[in-house]
Amino acid sequence: MRWVLLGGHGMLGQDLQSVLAQAGEHFWALGSADCDIRVPGAVTHAVRDADVVVNCAAWTAVDKAEEHEGEAFMINAVGAHNVAVACAAAGVRLVHVSTDYVMPGDGDQPWPEDAPQAPASAYGRTKAAGEWAVRQASPDAYVVRTAWLYGAGGGNFVKTMLRLAGERDTLTVVADQVGQPTWTRDLAELIVRLVNSGAPGGYYHGTSSGSTSWHRFAQEIFTLSGLEARRVAPITTDQFPVPAPRPANSVLGHDAFDANGIEPIGPWNERLAAALPVVTRGT
Ligand SMILES: NC(=O)c1ccc[n+]([C@@H]2O[C@H](COP(=O)([O-])OP(=O)(O)OC[C@H]3O[C@@H](n4cnc5c(N)ncnc54)[C@H](OP(=O)(O)O)[C@@H]3O)[C@@H](O)[C@H]2O)c1
Repeated sequence: MRWVLLGGHGMLGQDLQSVLAQAGEHFWALGSADCDIRVPGAVTHAVRDADVVVNCAAWTAVDKAEEHEGEAFMINAVGAHNVAVACAAAGVRLVHVSTDYVMPGDGDQPWPEDAPQAPASAYGRTKAAGEWAVRQASPDAYVVRTAWLYGAGGGNFVKTMLRLAGERDTLTVVADQVGQPTWTRDLAELIVRLVNSGAPGGYYHGTSSGSTSWHRFAQEIFTLSGLEARRVAPITTDQFPVPAPRPANSVLGHDAFDANGIEPIGPWNERLAAALPVVTRGT
């Protein structure tokens, strides 16, 4: 199969490149300079010879989106629409990557794939609009929501914790938000399994299993790195104000993957142990 990766040099895009290369697949990874998804003609040109397109391109600066919602909307919603229209016209299968931020974030149960979207942040609104546009223009598309990503190819929580461990004796980390830390390499492999499965289009939740808080995630990073976990102290969301509201409950249910017999990613702590040597290599 011929794959085109839009936003293909970002954190997820880099791991998709590795996974596809290992699988011997043909792929083209395009950055924004190669294909700006805000430009319909550029997208039409980029996808014309593909069998599968994975749209990893996004405005991902969550806090900055609060003051730049229009710019974020142009990429996350209008850009996503352009990609879906071009894929539908060319008969290309689309995988569109989305986020837990489209969910309201309350409650204590995992969000099912069909839960109504109710984003609390500007970033979440733009991503929810993108999901809607993709499903309208390309009903066969896979919309893969993910969350709490970390990987070798970008800045992320794991790298930040290890950097701060070298700079400070103790750290404080939010303990009242829960989610599923997810390695971009695991997500890349899951996306390939999804496409190869031939499962029907729709919403899928691409995250590790289990759940944890940012605080316990940080403690696990410390423990696995031979550092003392008690150096990480818990605080509440109120004690760490940021511009964009964060979902307190980001846990995503995996019914759609289960129903289609697609092998899940696995428990977040086991995957973190496998990922750490790779993610921190060279840092
Ligand atoms: N990181 C997380 O924790 C997280 C959580 C949930 C969901 N997600 C979603 O997962 C996906 C991948 O995230 P990521 O962490 O890999 O993001 P990332 O590292 O920030 O990569 C995003 C890429 O989008 C590209 N891009 C930005 N504007 C573009 C445009 N106008 N046209 C084409 N490309 C453009 C950038 O390419 P250039 O560098 O070439 O400009 C960048 O490499 C996104 O949809 C994101 O919303 C991420």
